[in-house]
Amino acid sequence: MPDYSHLPSLVSSSDGRYRVVNSMLEMVSDLETIQRISFPDLADAEIMSADHFASHIKIFPAGQHAVLDTLEDKVVASSSDIQIPLDFNHYQHKFFPAVGDGYFTTHDSSSPWLYGADIGVHPDYRSQGLSSLLYKARQDLVQRLGLHGHFAGAMPKGYGAMSLEMPIEAYLHEVIRNERFDPVLSIQLKRGYRIYGVIPEYLEDASCANYGVMIVWRNPDIGWNE
Ligand SMILES: CC(C)(COP(=O)(O)OP(=O)(O)OC[C@H]1O[C@@H](n2cnc3c(N)ncnc32)[C@H](O)[C@@H]1OP(=O)(O)O)[C@@H](O)C(=O)NCCC(=O)NCCS
Repeated sequence: MPDYSHLPSLVSSSDGRYRVVNSMLEMVSDLETIQRISFPDLADAEIMSADHFASHIKIFPAGQHAVLDTLEDKVVASSSDIQIPLDFNHYQHKFFPAVGDGYFTTHDSSSPWLYGADIGVHPDYRSQGLSSLLYKARQDLVQRLGLHGHFAGAMPKGYGAMSLEMPIEAYLHEVIRNERFDPVLSIQLKRGYRIYGVIPEYLEDASCANYGVMIVWRNPDIGWNE
C-alpha cells in the first residue's frame, strides 16, 4: 500500500487505530472495492467506479473522506460529498443524475448545502464506529465551510424485505420510534439526521425497494430558519 502516514487526520478513533483523511488518487481502486462490497444490490449503472472516485477527488477534494486502519495499513471505509442546491419545496430527485452520473460534475461551490452521495464501511469493519467517524468529518466540513447543513437520500435498507407487509411511511414511523432497527437509517438518526420526506424511485436497489429517504442535518452554528 502507498504510504499514507503523512496525511493529516481529520478525525480519529479514541484508541488512534482508525484515522479519517481526505481521499487520495492512489486510493481509488480500494474505494471501488469498498463500494462494490457495500452495495451488492445496487444496479451496476449506479455503482461508483475508480474513475468516478478519481473525478470526485479532482472536483471537490475536501468532500472526499477515507478511513485508514493504521494497524493493518489499509483503507477500510469512505464517504463522498458534493455541494448541490437544496430546494425544500422540490426535493424529489434521482440519485445518479444529481451526482453528475457519478462524476460530481454537478458540484456547485455556491450552494450552502453539502449532499451526501455515498458512505460505505467494509463489512469486516462494521459496528466499530467507523461510519460515525465519517459523519463527524462530514459535519465538521459543513461547519468549517459555514454551510447550512448536510442532506442525503438515505437508503432504508431494511425496507425491501418488508415492502409487501407495510407501506414505507409505516416502516419509517417504526424506525423513528425505535421500534425497528434499520441498518442505515437508524444509524443516521443516531448521528443527528432527521427525516424530511420520502423519495420514490430514488435509485435501483431491491434492498430499499428503490426508495430514498431525504434526511437533513442542520449546522448548529447557522440555525434552522436560514
Ligand atoms: C451503514 C454503514 C455505513 C454503518 O457503518 P458502521 O461503521 O457499521 O456504523 P457504526 O459502527 O458507526 O454505527 C453503528 C451503530 O448502529 C448500532 N447498531 C448496530 N446494530 C444494531 C441493532 N441491531 N440494533 C440497534 N442498534 C444497532 C450500533 O450500536 C452503533 O451505534 P452506537 O455507536 O451509537 O452504539 C455500514 O453498515 C455500511 O457500509 N453499509 C453498506 C453501505 C450503505 O448502506 N451505506 C448507506 C447508504 S445511504
